[in-house]
Amino acid sequence: MFTYSVLIALSLLAFSGGVVQAESASSPASIATKTCQQLQSSLGPSTVQTSSGPRYSIGANAAWSTFNDEVNFSPTCIVFANSTSDVQTAMTAIYHNGADYAVQSGGHSGMTGWNTIQNGVLISFINMSAISYDAGSNTITLEPGVRWGDAIDFLEPFGVAAVGGRVSEVGTGLLLGGGLSFLSPSQGYASDNYVSLDVVLVDGTVVTATVNNQHADLFKALKGGGNRFGIVTKYVVRAVHTGTEQDKPFLGGIFTYPNSSSDALLGAFAHYAYQINDKNAILTNEIRTTWQNGSLDFSHTVVMIYNGTQASFNKTFAEFLSIPSATSLIAPFSYHDLVNAVSFPDGLGTVFGGIALGGVSAHSSFDNYLEVYRLYSNFSATFASSPDIAFTLLDFTTVPKTQIQAGCEKGGNPMISNPATNGFNEVLFQVSYNEGVTQAPADVEKGRQYVLAKAPITPGLPLFLNEADANQQVFASYGNYKFLKQVYAKYDPTRFNVGHTQGPLGL
Ligand SMILES: Cc1cc2nc3c(=O)[nH]c(=O)nc-3n(C[C@H](O)[C@H](O)[C@H](O)COP(=O)(O)OP(=O)(O)OC[C@H]3O[C@@H](n4cnc5c(N)ncnc54)[C@H](O)[C@@H]3O)c2cc1C
Ligand SMILES: *[C@@H]1O[C@H](CO)[C@@H](O)[C@H](O)[C@H]1NC(C)=O
Ligand SMILES: *[C@@H]1O[C@H](CO)[C@@H](O)[C@H](O)[C@H]1NC(C)=O
Ligand SMILES: *[C@@H]1O[C@H](CO)[C@@H](O)[C@H](O)[C@H]1NC(C)=O
Ligand SMILES: *[C@@H]1O[C@H](CO)[C@@H](O)[C@H](O)[C@H]1NC(C)=O
Ligand SMILES: *[C@@H]1O[C@H](CO)[C@@H](O)[C@H](O)[C@H]1NC(C)=O
Ligand SMILES: *[C@@H]1O[C@H](CO)[C@@H](O)[C@H](O)[C@H]1NC(C)=O
Ligand SMILES: *[C@@H]1O[C@H](CO)[C@@H](O)[C@H](O)[C@H]1NC(C)=O
Repeated sequence: MFTYSVLIALSLLAFSGGVVQAESASSPASIATKTCQQLQSSLGPSTVQTSSGPRYSIGANAAWSTFNDEVNFSPTCIVFANSTSDVQTAMTAIYHNGADYAVQSGGHSGMTGWNTIQNGVLISFINMSAISYDAGSNTITLEPGVRWGDAIDFLEPFGVAAVGGRVSEVGTGLLLGGGLSFLSPSQGYASDNYVSLDVVLVDGTVVTATVNNQHADLFKALKGGGNRFGIVTKYVVRAVHTGTEQDKPFLGGIFTYPNSSSDALLGAFAHYAYQINDKNAILTNEIRTTWQNGSLDFSHTVVMIYNGTQASFNKTFAEFLSIPSATSLIAPFSYHDLVNAVSFPDGLGTVFGGIALGGVSAHSSFDNYLEVYRLYSNFSATFASSPDIAFTLLDFTTVPKTQIQAGCEKGGNPMISNPATNGFNEVLFQVSYNEGVTQAPADVEKGRQYVLAKAPITPGLPLFLNEADANQQVFASYGNYKFLKQVYAKYDPTRFNVGHTQGPLGL
């Protein structure tokens, strides 16, 4: 007991810069301190660390966006969970004491404050990252601390993959936000491929949810419900036969276009989402603007991937191929190659914003696409002289009709209620600040919110939680919003989660 009190005293000192401040017994800080003390004695000081612990700063600085690092948030303690039972113990104490908390898996959230906490308990999954494949049931089991790159490396020799991230460093929180994968056009959203989930509910109860057991409602809610419905400690998902490293079934095209092609490209995206209904085709695009001494550099990269022949590739992506490009490369890829093709460095403060745009038939206007690009260009031009911004991105990912249908066939998700929904584009508006910038400057933040408020989002389409701004009403945009609210009320009747952790609005 002596060691624990010394640890706590040290952590208090570290916390308040040497002055132990008087706190009211019911302040979030003192509730967190009490909860951490209890958890240190039940789980031990190696699993539960305060700021004096040897691994505390690894856990407190594991987030991808530096806005979520220790410079802005120093959790009262970090629970390095080793098992579902550790998470159960932690949630039970958090719930009974009324402590604030947060959960972090791969740390790639673009929402400041969603994967960490000040004056509260952080549950970190750094130490739960087991992966296994069961050929008999053709399923993959993932602990929440797994990163997609590790999953792909582990699964490659078996010739299978999970429907997971497109960038290797990202973690399993991707599933809870729905999840867009290179395999989505054929398999649905990543989360449409759940088989079963172990979930620690807000009061510490553990349940297993499947598509047809008594927790089928929770199972469905977790396909896009983010961190609101409980803490998932084990994901069992379907395995897709993607082949090994030697198999290269995917023709991948990387095309860069000059800014003068931007209107034509936006038209191609609008039309593609409307008319292409091909599960073998994958399309993403990135418009990146970088700042160099006040002068802007726009670059457009379109990634076209086709599981099939060059002739099919040419036919499906014909409109894109007809637009003058600066450079192009088409080569065969394995699934493993695809996911390892892109890497995003850590070390920048980053925020996301989401815009959904419906597909448009070839003869209709795509003015809403042009307007989004105009807003983006105006934002970039306005803040070109800001020394704080490293770059901005406008990323398009097409959600084709085949993806929507695959999801509905696998039991449906909260995002889309109508299986006849036409293809659309999810657009990410990202702003990354320079290294060392710890907070978004107020004028830039205002300009960013202006873009999101003015963007002509197509009504009736779901905003993508994984790419949204923390203030956007993502759940209210879901086709099954009412269902989501009912499930939330059932599994968290005291509304503990919305009161004690940051996350999506609207429940
Ligand atoms: C470089 C980059 C590439 C990306 N690429 C893609 C992509 O291809 N497809 C796509 O869909 N998204 C993509 N995203 C978005 C990404 O999916 C989300 O940021 C996602 O939330 C990251 O999950 P994580 O585990 O890494 O992050 P975390 O920040 O650890 O978690 C994200 C959110 O989920 C909650 N959470 C995490 N684990 C659990 C759990 N087990 N139980 C309950 N709540 C939990 C956290 O509290 C947090 O609110 C990308 C993001 C980045 C930065
Ligand atoms: C966590 O699990 C590992 C491996 O199973 C074990 O070596 C370690 O002692 C555990 N830590 C705690 C604190 O239980
Ligand atoms: C927990 O994770 C840390 C950091 O990744 C690692 O150093 C440590 O060995 C892990 N411990 C266990 C028990 O897995
Ligand atoms: C690629 O296409 C082939 C032939 O249609 C199909 O058998 C295979 O399952 C597809 N692979 C993926 C990963 O979709
Ligand atoms: C890029 O193209 C758009 C649309 O055609 C235009 O409005 C914008 O000014 C261009 N930007 C630059 C930096 O040339
Ligand atoms: C930007 O301006 C600074 C100071 O004028 C100069 O030192 C630097 O080389 C410039 N960088 C670029 C990329 O032009
Ligand atoms: C595909 O299109 C390219 C030009 O974009 C052309 O060189 C190639 O021959 C075409 N291949 C097939 C099989 O149609
Ligand atoms: C351009 O952006 C600035 C900064 O957000 C904003 O004040 C201005 O109204 C925008 N102009 C247009 C035409 O959208």
